[in-house]
Amino acid sequence: MQIEEIMKKMIDLAAGNHHDINHFMKVHSFARTIGRMEGLDEETQYVLEAAAIVHDIACPLCREKYGNTAGALQEAESEPLVREFFSGTNLPEKQLERIVFLVTHHHTYTGVDGMDYQILLEADYLVNADESHYPGKGIALFRKNVFRTASGLALLNSVFCEELRGMP
Ligand SMILES: [Fe+2]
Repeated sequence: MQIEEIMKKMIDLAAGNHHDINHFMKVHSFARTIGRMEGLDEETQYVLEAAAIVHDIACPLCREKYGNTAGALQEAESEPLVREFFSGTNLPEKQLERIVFLVTHHHTYTGVDGMDYQILLEADYLVNADESHYPGKGIALFRKNVFRTASGLALLNSVFCEELRGMP
């Protein structure tokens, strides 16, 4: 399944929710950019981009079922949705399992066991910090505690140069 096919299918699934569509398109673009800048191999890059597109797949269900999209709820609900999304496609089993793992851990900041995982956390944060107007203090703390890749750090510092001015 090509990345653009995954994108088209996820846009269709969003059923006209512009916020959701904008969100995952931005996260995918940051993930793609960081992955390329970090020189990921093709398979890791593909898994990262696929996971970035579908990472919030449980949001509509969580809004409906719980009235909110807390990270832990999304992580708990997303596995069957990811499997359903890719069922009947030619996605290799190993890549499917990794995408499931990444989506069900994208709000977990410990036990980061690969560049795909690390970059997905960074890309999602770059978008969330903007969409939710995080204060400079929070961004600086997250930079110190979670950001690890040189490219992700450079992007964070650039995008949030105003918010981060004078921050330790
Ligand atoms: Fe997200």
